[in-house]
This record gives sequence, C-alpha cells and structure tokens, in this order.
Amino acid sequence: MKTIQHTPADAAVLCVALNPAIDLTIEVSDLRIGEVNRAQRAQQDAGGKGINVASCLADYAAKVAVTGQLGRDNAALFESLFNDKGIDNRCLYLDGHTRVNTKIVDPAKGETTDINLPGPSQTKAQINAHLERLADVMNTLASTVRWVVLSGSLPPGWPADTYATLTRHAHALGSQVMLDTSGQPFGEALKAGPDVVKPNRDELAEHLGRPLGSMEETIEAGRQLLTECPGMGLVAISMGHDGAVFVSPSQVVVAHPLDVEPISSVGAGDAMVAGIVAAQLDGLPLDRGAQLATAFAAAKLTRLGPHLPAPEIVRALAATVRLDRPGGPDYTP
Ligand SMILES: Nc1ncnc2c1ncn2[C@@H]1O[C@H](COP(=O)(O)OP(=O)(O)OP(=O)(O)O)[C@@H](O)[C@H]1O
Ligand SMILES: [Mg+2]
Repeated sequence: MKTIQHTPADAAVLCVALNPAIDLTIEVSDLRIGEVNRAQRAQQDAGGKGINVASCLADYAAKVAVTGQLGRDNAALFESLFNDKGIDNRCLYLDGHTRVNTKIVDPAKGETTDINLPGPSQTKAQINAHLERLADVMNTLASTVRWVVLSGSLPPGWPADTYATLTRHAHALGSQVMLDTSGQPFGEALKAGPDVVKPNRDELAEHLGRPLGSMEETIEAGRQLLTECPGMGLVAISMGHDGAVFVSPSQVVVAHPLDVEPISSVGAGDAMVAGIVAAQLDGLPLDRGAQLATAFAAAKLTRLGPHLPAPEIVRALAATVRLDRPGGPDYTP
C-alpha cells in the first residue's frame, strides 16, 4: 500500500470512497450507435461519490481526509485532486486501474448516455483485509474526525453490511456518520443507526417499498425513518429540481432549489451531502443548514467537476434559498 502521510493528522471529516471512478465525459453531437462518431472533446475528472463529497468540503475549507480504494495504474488524477485541495490521502491501493465511467454528452439531442463499469474484482480475503485496514485508518484519525461520510455503491463482492460495520466502528470511536447510499447497503446500514442520511426520493421510495408522490408522503417517509432508527438526527430527502426536505425529530423544513442553469447534474446530491456535513461542523440550526446544503448543490450544478466557488460565494447563495415550514402558519404545499 502507498499512502501519502500528512502529519499531524487534523481532518475533521473522513470520506470513505470504496468504489471511486474516473468520470470520462465525451462530447459527440448527433451520436449514432453502431457507427463511427467524431467527438468534439473529452474531459476526465476524478469522481465517485465519496471523492465528490471530499472535494466539495475541501473547497469550503473543511479539513478532510479520504480513504477507500484506488487502482495504482491511474491514481494520478485522484492524487493531483487531493494535492490541489489539501485532502489527506489515506486510500488503499489496488493493483490495476480504478474503473472509468463514460458519459457521452450529445449537445445536439440534449441527451447524456452513461456507461458505468462495476469496479474491482477482489477475493473475500482481499476484501476482509481491506475492511480491517479501513478500520485502522479510522483509528489513526479518530482524535480529530468528527464526521465519517459513507457514500456510494459498494464494489463487487463487498458484504451488504459493510456500511453498517463502518458506522458501528465510527460510533465506537466517537465520530458521527453521514450515510448516502441505496438498496441493500442502505437498509443494512440503517440498522447501525447513522446520524444523518440523504436518500433521494427514489432511493427512499425503493427502501420503503412504496411510491412517494406528494410532499406529505415524502415528509411522512422521513418521519418513518426517524422512528425506525432511534438516535438519527436528520433525514434529508433530495428531490432534484423540486428541492429537498429536511426532517429532524422536532422540525421539518422544505428547501426550494435555486434557479440555476445546470451545466452537469452529476454530483448535485454529493454536493448536498457535503453541505449538510459543513452545516453540522458549523453548528447551524436546521433551517440554515438546509439553505447551505441547497447552495452547495446549486453551486456544483454550474460546474463540470466536483468543485465549488469560494466559501463566501456559497454562503451568499445560501442566504437566498427560500424555505417552507410545513405545519407553520404560512405553509401551502
Ligand atoms: N435542475 C436543478 N435545478 C436546481 N437545483 C437542483 C437541480 N437538480 C438538483 N438540484 C439541487 O440538488 C439537490 C440534490 O439533487 P438530487 O436530488 O438530484 O440528488 P441525487 O439524486 O442524490 O444526485 P446524485 O446522487 O446523482 O448526485 C436538490 O435537492 C436540489 O437542491
Ligand atoms: Mg445521490
């Protein structure tokens, strides 16, 4: 394993990126399947949910470390992102490449085609060894890390309760946990009682096994999660261009989206996760946290990679986010 050591370790947030990806964006006007196409341009960005969250938090001047798994053969893109943003690199290195996820953007048709690879193939023994080493990284950073962010899919073969295991370990070390994943890993991790979760509406509907059509149904679903998981302090349900609902045991806030011209919708949810953690670090109340998280998402939407403008610009955007308080005197759904 090659790990760039930063001393002294001072990260307040540890982002776990088990299955990162290089996002390869290729622009092809009038894409024709099964034919030779001429591309206008291509761009590669270090990506994957955990990396995006770390990158946005670092842009907001939070002290961030990242761990997870990187392929040795194309790690340079990630390493330069970490170096540029002062992110403490605690990743484990695998032989071979980190997967490349391809996005073919067709400006003429206004369509994007995604082709995502599954991630590394690892034996049970390798997976168990890496789980132990992740726990070691958490132990090493425990004295300063206040939040552990668990986000994204699990690589092939990793146990569905991996995030549950890491949540319990983080809690044993005195850190809080933000969880953003879906399917079985989400359901399993809920049993370990993460402190904050940010499913999007579809992911929460899938977990509950019922559609979430109206705002009332969405808020009720958030309340149900809080009841199922005692100790959970916040359920943030993002709804794309419909904004997001923030449900705590004592309050509900609906944050309207900002009116932005999206350049890339990739990572808006990850930026929102970063904004929620930033709000927690700053000790903001629920309404101001909802505004900051929405500003993070909007600011990210106007950029291609996982980047934010300067913190004062993000804070100014946050002040413009409109909120509703369902149940409050002025609320009309
Ligand atoms: N078209 C849009 N215009 C304005 N804001 C948007 C738009 N799309 C998303 N957002 C903002 O980003 C937040 C998160 O978006 P979304 O619900 O799509 O996350 P997600 O599905 O988790 O995305 P991903 O996991 O792909 O990053 C929304 O709550 C909203 O504030
Ligand atoms: Mg998401």
